[in-house]
Amino acid sequence: MNPKDIFADLERRAELGGGEDRLRRQREAGKLTARARIDLLFDPGTFEEVDKFVTHRCGDFGMADQIVPGDGVVCGRGRINGRLTYAFAQDFTVFGGSLSETNAAKIVKIMDLAVKMGAPVVGLNDSGGARIQEGVVSLGGYADIFLRNTLASGVVPQISAIMGPCAGGAVYSPAITDFTVMVKHTSYMFVTGPDVIRTVTHEQVTKEELGGAMTHNERSGVAHFAAESDQECLLLVRELLSFMPGNNVDDPPRVVSADPPDRADEALDTVVPAAPNQAYDMLDVIHAVVDEGHLLQVHEHYARNILVGFARLGGRPVGIVANQPAHLAGTLDIDASVKGARFVRFCDAFNIPLITFEDVPGFLPGTVQEYGGIIRHGAKLLFAFAEATVPKLTVITRKAYGGAYCVMSSKHIRSDVNYAWPTAEIAVMGAEGAVNILYKREIETAPDPAAARAARIAEYREKFANPYVAAQRGFIDEVIMPRETRAKLIAALGALETKRDRNPPKKHGNIPL
Ligand code: HXC
Repeated sequence: MNPKDIFADLERRAELGGGEDRLRRQREAGKLTARARIDLLFDPGTFEEVDKFVTHRCGDFGMADQIVPGDGVVCGRGRINGRLTYAFAQDFTVFGGSLSETNAAKIVKIMDLAVKMGAPVVGLNDSGGARIQEGVVSLGGYADIFLRNTLASGVVPQISAIMGPCAGGAVYSPAITDFTVMVKHTSYMFVTGPDVIRTVTHEQVTKEELGGAMTHNERSGVAHFAAESDQECLLLVRELLSFMPGNNVDDPPRVVSADPPDRADEALDTVVPAAPNQAYDMLDVIHAVVDEGHLLQVHEHYARNILVGFARLGGRPVGIVANQPAHLAGTLDIDASVKGARFVRFCDAFNIPLITFEDVPGFLPGTVQEYGGIIRHGAKLLFAFAEATVPKLTVITRKAYGGAYCVMSSKHIRSDVNYAWPTAEIAVMGAEGAVNILYKREIETAPDPAAARAARIAEYREKFANPYVAAQRGFIDEVIMPRETRAKLIAALGALETKRDRNPPKKHGNIPL
């Protein structure tokens, strides 16, 4: 063949992947092909592929005549919303997208480039795992990727989309990355599959129950987002990236917002119910405050007693952390603490200011929580907020009780600007609990115990269940009307633009894992 024909043949075979039949099966399974995914992920016409003609080096097991240029993974760089991004897409039609030595080397190459250029990495996973025919060489390839994931953590954002199988040790690459998106019904992740489980523990479980998108979004917290389809998944990745800088020394990208910075929302003045134990939806507060009312929730289905996600204020990306009184009364439990801590650390690593909306009656009591290690896990959230050096702003809407008051970005752990609404209750504990402890005997011996108790509760509420004791101490910078919240936060963010703060020099801290 002449050189042009060789080139054309290689191109054709690379584009064809595992062949027409397998491509058809991929589509019939409701999945896009690796190349179609790449096309949707990147701005049109911007993707530049690398290593398109790389092939495997495994001549054993009859593999010598099964050579597909590219070897089952499409790698390269392109633009997402105009910004440089690196990506790889595993091609399930080539040996089930399994990871070979050369296939891993291609992924490692783009990860190294991404770190050098300060650009995010997106991995589109759809693979049967280690290429069985290559044995330990393939395992080594995985370990090479895990090392890159670890070293890149906190340097460039890393996002994993799970768009097919992801099993065995392969799950640990997505697990190290910052965010994992799963596609409903076509993706699954597990360390060991249903067959092995049946043999070892005699449990009967389906792939979907064990490691489907909703299992990991609702129960395990392994995944942060659940998409309805490949298309939705890729759009979500694009949106997620729009809130992040390319790396840890850049600022997140700003947009021009048409939403007036001084927009006041009177509905906020009445959002907190008069009865202290009545629930309300903290999402109503967040939506009323942020630009265009848009919050991209992270971990929406997991630990719903805390809300975390990305939004913008005055066009500037911010990370929102908020107690959710509509679930478990907004208490902090193990899952909420871990969810919050991981998000806070992501924002801190990538220069995204943190806005905390607080209404927390405390840590969730009970043996389940204590035996599960709420002390250790709750400490993660405290540690994360305390070590964060990005601009930190807090708004206390109602309860800020006990240890949870300290944890939720209080002044004492270096929050920069702390506001409270007039409805704030900043105290060691709620009125009922406090009165039961302080006046137990007095109430028991009173002629009318119920009346005595009610009087003490009223007295306690008057004295402590307000923001003014904290404001007298300077623990709260200002008591603000709820309707002013947006304007106040945007003005404060502006004042914090030049914030410089750092932690003492150290190899790394020892967050209680
Ligand atoms: C080589 C593989 C492969 C693998 C699948 N294929 N997995 N080839 N190495 N790991 C090939 C199949 O031979 C088949 O080739 C094609 O990919 C599609 O596979 P099917 O089985 O036909 O597809 P499907 O029915 O959809 O099942 C998908 C699957 C199954 C569930 C992923 O293929 C499977 O169980 N594969 C093995 C998974 C596994 O045990 N991997 C090792 C895990 S341990 P043809 O030619 O017929 O199209 C691991 C360790 C990582 O990964 C360690 C990191 C530290």
